[in-house]
Amino acid sequence: MEIKTYIGAVRKAADCVKTKVPGFSPSVGIILGSGLAKAVPTLERSTVIPYSDIPGFPRTTVAGHMGKLILGHLHGRSVAVMQGRFHYYEGHSMENIALPLRMLEYLGIKTVFLTAAVGSVREEIKPGHFVAVTDHINFMGRNPLRAFHEEEFGEMFPDLVNAYDAELRKKVVAVCRKHKLPVHEGVYTAVCGPSYETPAEIRAFRAWGGDVVGMSVVPEVIPARQMGIKVTALTWISNMCSGMKGASLNHSEVLELGAKVSEGLRLVLNDFIKVA
Ligand code: HPA
Repeated sequence: MEIKTYIGAVRKAADCVKTKVPGFSPSVGIILGSGLAKAVPTLERSTVIPYSDIPGFPRTTVAGHMGKLILGHLHGRSVAVMQGRFHYYEGHSMENIALPLRMLEYLGIKTVFLTAAVGSVREEIKPGHFVAVTDHINFMGRNPLRAFHEEEFGEMFPDLVNAYDAELRKKVVAVCRKHKLPVHEGVYTAVCGPSYETPAEIRAFRAWGGDVVGMSVVPEVIPARQMGIKVTALTWISNMCSGMKGASLNHSEVLELGAKVSEGLRLVLNDFIKVA
C-alpha cells in the first residue's frame, strides 16, 4: 500500500467513528487479546461498532477475537476498547496491524493498555499468572514503521527507551495486587507465529533475558511510541513454552483459563481507567 493511501485509510476510519459518535474523543485505548473478549470494562453510555462497519479496517480471522470497537465512559473518562486485534500470522501487513491504533490516536487517545496471551519462559511464571511488560525483544524481524514514514505520525527513528511506561506499570501492578491476582514483571519476546517455538528457541530467548513469548504487542507498541502515546501492556500466561515442564495445555484448558483471567482483568481495567 502507498503511504498516502494508508493515511487516507486511517483518516477514513477515524471519520467514520466520529460520524457514528459525534463529539466522542477517547483519552484511553484498550486492546483486548486472545481469550479476553469478556474483559471489557464496565462502561457507561457505550456504543458498539463492528470492525466490519469501519472502512479500511482489516478483518479478524481468529476464533475468540470478537472484532468490535466499544466506546464509552468510566470515572469521567472516555474510553475506546478494541475487542480483538490483528496479527501478522493471519497475513495482515505490519502497517495494517498498526492501523486501528493510529485511528485511536487520531480520535485522541494519549494512553493505551495492551493485553495479550503469552507463553512463559520461566518456571516460576505459571499459566493463569499476569506479566506486566517491562521491555521487549523484537524477534519478528519486521518493523511496522518501515516504508511508512509520514511526518504527522512522528519521528522516523523513535527511541524505544521506557517504551512500556514505568509509572503506568507501577499502577497496573498495584491494581493487580489489590485484586489478589498473581502478577510478575518481565520482558516480552515477539515472534511471527503461527507455529509455536522450538525448545532451542525458548532456551535462546531465556538466555537473552526474555520472560514471555507472544505473537502480537510489538507491532502496536512501536507505532504507539512513535505517535507519543504512553503504553502499558499486561499479558497473561496461557501455557508454559515449548520444551518446558507442563508445556502441553490443551485448547479447552486454555479457554477455561482465559475466561477466569478475563474476570480478573476486567477489575484491573475498571481501576486502571481511574488512575491512568
Ligand atoms: N508462544 C508464542 N505465542 C504464544 C504462546 C507461546 O507459547 N502462547 C500464547 N501465545
